[in-house]
Amino acid sequence: MPLVVKGLEGIVASETKSSFIDGEKGILEYAGIAIDDLARNSTFEETVYLLWNKRLPNKAELDELSTMLRDRYELPPGMEQRLVALPTSAQPMHMLRTMVSALSMHDLEPNKIDAVSARRKALNILGHTPTLIAYFDRYRRGLPLVHPRKDLSFAANFLYMLNGKEPTPAMTRAFDICMILHADHGLNNSTFAARVIISTLSDMYSAITGAIGSLRGPLHGGANEGVMEMLTEIEKLAAEQHKNPMDVIEPYILDRLKRKELVMGFGHRVYKTIDPRATFLKTFSKQIAADTGNLKLYEMSSKIEEIMAREVGAKGIFPNVDFYSATTYHSIGLKLDLFTPMFAMSRVSGWAAHCLEQLDGNRLFRPAAEYTGAHNVPYTAIGNR
Ligand code: COA
Repeated sequence: MPLVVKGLEGIVASETKSSFIDGEKGILEYAGIAIDDLARNSTFEETVYLLWNKRLPNKAELDELSTMLRDRYELPPGMEQRLVALPTSAQPMHMLRTMVSALSMHDLEPNKIDAVSARRKALNILGHTPTLIAYFDRYRRGLPLVHPRKDLSFAANFLYMLNGKEPTPAMTRAFDICMILHADHGLNNSTFAARVIISTLSDMYSAITGAIGSLRGPLHGGANEGVMEMLTEIEKLAAEQHKNPMDVIEPYILDRLKRKELVMGFGHRVYKTIDPRATFLKTFSKQIAADTGNLKLYEMSSKIEEIMAREVGAKGIFPNVDFYSATTYHSIGLKLDLFTPMFAMSRVSGWAAHCLEQLDGNRLFRPAAEYTGAHNVPYTAIGNR
């Protein structure tokens, strides 16, 4: 009997130089550099260069990449009309998946996957994604679209297009750090999806469209929205019971665990200790929550972490990146259904890095399935069934 590994847990299916994870020790590195070091010192643009080239850029190289990215902030002609023809009720992740797919039709050579073309397509998608999200959010709110500004960084330009005013340096830095922390993470589900798709020698747009579909799921990128929903539910419960939210957290979490319900933002297939991105975001979310008057949410999160450590820490269930990113995004002022698109906006860089690696020495993914159905079943004519 062949061994069936459900969920492919523990199976090494690819080589990569993009990111390294030690789930036991809680280490994450991009091209050898610790995530903490990058979050403290780098910018998202520099991190993109690192992921695509496996080394940090010099000043001229960074300037070149930033310029090419800024040249792609504006959408191709026709895309804006397509976007504002969507129903305002559409969910942003569905919009993003559809519109990234549509970008391929504005590329005169969508199928070219030689190294230079694949990078250009990756830049197209990375440059256009923030614009798609910001435009859509303003369109559905009935607000005039705010066109991108080439003099602003990736992070600052996005917040500017979304809110219609230039963000403060502290907001920009907070958002830039979130972008760095979400950029890549080994062969996670969406990255695997992207590599599977490009391994057929399909195109970058198809690969990233598929990855967006994967990321949307609540067991993957959708978990940060789940965290915020949980915090809101706790606040609602406290209001109904005329209690302080801090006093209802413990019974709420214990009840959830008793009913075998997941506590969103906890657990990870790889990390059996605290996710290093969560360690960084915890400190960071405290600061930004305090600056923006959202300290209560941070304190609630911190208490949930304490209870979970006591109750399920022995099982290796600790906070993951989504846990404190929820409070951070909320403090930045992002609406709940934009949390996962924020993840996608950053992760385009990691998906593209893996697609470039996959194309360089490609082998088609084609695993097998163990057939567990019946055999030799005679065909029954429809009238006799
Ligand atoms: N809350 C409560 N219990 C959890 C849990 C959570 N968030 N995550 C895992 N567990 C428990 C499981 O119920 C299981 O318990 P059991 O052994 O008593 O049956 C045990 O821990 C192992 O979990 P398992 O589902 O096998 O782990 P996995 O590696 O398949 O799943 C996740 C990893 C991420 C899918 C899972 O932890 C999860 O769904 N977390 C919540 C969603 C989330 O935050 N996702 C973002 C990931 S970055």
